[in-house]
Amino acid sequence: KGQEMWGGRFSAQPDEVMQAINASIGVDQRLAEEDVAGSIAHANMLAAQEIITEADRDAILGGLDKIIEEIRAGEFKFSVALEDIHMNIEARLKELIGEPAGRLHTARSRNDQVATDFRLWVKSSCTARLDQIESLMKALLKQADAHADWVMPGFTHLQTAQPVTVGHHLMAYVEMFSRDFSRFADAIHRMDECPLGAAALAGTGFETNRYITAEALGFSHPMANSLDAVSARDFAIESLSSIAICAQHLSRLAEEIVIWSSAPFSFVRLSDAWSTGSSIMPQKRNPDAAELVRAKTGRANGSLISMLTIMKGLPLAYSKDMQDDKQIVFEAFDSLDLSLQAMTGMIDSITFNKANLATAAAGGFSTATDLADWLVRELNIPFREAHHITGASVKAAEDKGVQLWDLSLEELQAIEPRITKQIFDVLSVDASVASRQSYGGTAPVRVREQIALWKERLL
Ligand code: ARG
Repeated sequence: KGQEMWGGRFSAQPDEVMQAINASIGVDQRLAEEDVAGSIAHANMLAAQEIITEADRDAILGGLDKIIEEIRAGEFKFSVALEDIHMNIEARLKELIGEPAGRLHTARSRNDQVATDFRLWVKSSCTARLDQIESLMKALLKQADAHADWVMPGFTHLQTAQPVTVGHHLMAYVEMFSRDFSRFADAIHRMDECPLGAAALAGTGFETNRYITAEALGFSHPMANSLDAVSARDFAIESLSSIAICAQHLSRLAEEIVIWSSAPFSFVRLSDAWSTGSSIMPQKRNPDAAELVRAKTGRANGSLISMLTIMKGLPLAYSKDMQDDKQIVFEAFDSLDLSLQAMTGMIDSITFNKANLATAAAGGFSTATDLADWLVRELNIPFREAHHITGASVKAAEDKGVQLWDLSLEELQAIEPRITKQIFDVLSVDASVASRQSYGGTAPVRVREQIALWKERLL
């Protein structure tokens, strides 16, 4: 059947394995809508330029209409012998309308056709992910707003460092996802040019008008170089890199959910809708969705590396290697789709345990830095020396099995005689977070300012 398309040159049928390795219809049938849209734009342009007659154009458009109906209804018979979506549709068009079908491929090649279809698909998929990232940001913002002044331990090395607010922590992710948003938006902007009309690689001798097709397909202009138009896949690579980076942010948040929801931490509880049980241990509430979001990052990274490796070293213009791009890209977009939805669902319905967070925030001598800062500010002691005095105070508390604020003034003065009872004003967790009012700091006043700004942008 495939030989019908170029039968003139061939006398024997392809080997079965040849067909199996060559056919892409199992994957690229997902480009059916884009392929038909491209053909409609092309047929209209050919008629406007008087390259085909209006009657032929009408026949072609009528046939394409029927085909898209068949595809949507699941009635279209995809054939492996016809290799890919482009030839499947063209062959069906011929069955439906006869001779005019053969005129559609004038001044066009599957090389510019697939580049156009794929670009359209990636562009609209990036746009869909933009909306999903925004939904996740809104969910995080809502939780940050509700917990703007709840305290929790801030960690470095996963060791208690300084207390922070839950709102501050969640808003950190809003910032990260906003950069992911802008990465996708940038990628969309750069891929917004149309390869159609580049033909096989060199352009065409027909008097086409590539501005007409570019505009009809929603691109801002045609690609300027026909060789580049059929060879470029950096739009796919760029979106895979945006996916990988976004997946990485999702994975870090997922990891925190896994840690926070564990029994020893018990900072949060995932809702029933986002937890799973154990088949043997009745007490278990497993964060499976968070773990799978974390896992999908590995595949997102793999997709990016696969695509970079496939494209590396391909001479201009088209090489069949490029056919293998679609499966990778489809799967990466699908995974991110699921991950973003799952994370939004988890965040939306997660509950925070105020008491456990506060207890943990107070543990680990988390306000030791506040003690050191007080020594610097009030006694003009150099920070390095203050650090040393504080270390000795922490050791004294630890030896006694108490918190810093449980030490008596006398005990503190035994370490540094100039310490006064004012020290106790800065040792509490609430005082600690309230004091960190530098721009971007964890103090509830600063966090609420950021929340207000993001509410204006997002809501
Ligand atoms: N199925 C092909 C692909 O996805 C379409 C382009 C084929 N072009 C060619 N010169 N064989 O890349």
